Amino acid sequence: MRDPLTPILPGAVVGVLGSGQLGRMFAIAARQLGYRVHTFSPETDTPTGQVADVEITAPYDDLDAIRDFAQNVHVLTFEFENVPALAVDAAAEFAPVRPSGSVLHIAQHRLREKSFLEGKGFPVAPFRAVNSLDELRAAIEQIGCPAILKTAVSGYDGKGQVKLINPADAEAAFTATGSQETILEAFIDFELEFSIVAARGYDGAFAHWGLIENTHRNHILDLSFAPARVSQSTSIKALEIARNLLETLDVVGVLCIEFFLSRDQRIFINELAPRPHNSGHLTINAALTSQFEQQLRAVCGLPLGATNFLAAAAMTNLLGDLWQGGEPNWAAVAGFPDVKLHLYGKDQVRPGRKMGHLTALAPTANAAVERVLDARKRLTNR
Ligand SMILES: Nc1ncnc2c1ncn2[C@@H]1O[C@H](COP(=O)(O)OP(=O)(O)O)[C@@H](O)[C@H]1O
Ligand SMILES: [Mg+2]
Repeated sequence: MRDPLTPILPGAVVGVLGSGQLGRMFAIAARQLGYRVHTFSPETDTPTGQVADVEITAPYDDLDAIRDFAQNVHVLTFEFENVPALAVDAAAEFAPVRPSGSVLHIAQHRLREKSFLEGKGFPVAPFRAVNSLDELRAAIEQIGCPAILKTAVSGYDGKGQVKLINPADAEAAFTATGSQETILEAFIDFELEFSIVAARGYDGAFAHWGLIENTHRNHILDLSFAPARVSQSTSIKALEIARNLLETLDVVGVLCIEFFLSRDQRIFINELAPRPHNSGHLTINAALTSQFEQQLRAVCGLPLGATNFLAAAAMTNLLGDLWQGGEPNWAAVAGFPDVKLHLYGKDQVRPGRKMGHLTALAPTANAAVERVLDARKRLTNR
């Protein structure tokens, strides 16, 4: 049994480790409910810092700075899963960290994550740990090709991943991933990808926004829409997996599970993100409670909010590439009354960098997708 619940109420200070757009949207939700927000990261004038009450700038391995930060907040969460475990442990001496460091520990290492999932009976693609070229060759013999070699740590947006079409690609692939600790996964010829953004409250309550369908471009999320185009039985199965997984991990907070649906309708978990997720951004405008407010409610020990959708929705990312011909045409997008613009306050534009997103609501997911892509196209119509 847990300790009797003492909720952390509005007016309290929530600390966020990390300072990107996820922290920014979390901070906006927290401030709406009257909380104060402190953010910690090695950078200044960050997406989160711009909307937080206090922005602390120090490296994550400065444990004195981390302890100092934790002493000035009532509860801590993170918006980025690569916060070093030592930093989380140091912070936890002074304030509760939710979700706990053990969830973070599993999710920040692909091999640990996949082994944990497999060990608990959750469906994952066949995989092998690979620490040398010889191990890679042996793994290819067992798993076959095509396959994907991924670095065990610090991968995001497809970074640190190489696809192997045939066994002769082994050496080049191992070199390309930096000859470090990696994992070889069977390639899933998927029909579609979807995610479940789910939340578990301090009291064990479970909430979710159903299945969100995702498409990637250059390994970066391009488009998310809800509801996903899957059968009811797939939806029921996947939600059952999500509920069990959050329970098994004893998560307090929001956790996103990325899935593949194979052409023969089998479900595989691709990876976990122990925090709000890019594919859940559409919940800000489309659902009664957003993933960010839900994260806040969970980590503060408040009851979870209702996740009903107000309409079908689609979200598309705005990457730095859109700035190539100059400032995007914001006025044109403002001309779409059913489309909401979100910008993250990043002044350094780089191709592939997530600068913002657009969300459209419509009677059907298809219609929402059409609207949001139309609006994005207009951004480069200068
Ligand atoms: N085993 C796989 N089979 C097929 N496609 C994959 C596989 N692993 C990754 N991908 C593709 O690459 C994308 C990014 O991979 P992912 O493991 O989610 O890494 P990241 O941490 O970069 O999001 C996936 O969303 C999917 O489109
Ligand atoms: Mg992913």
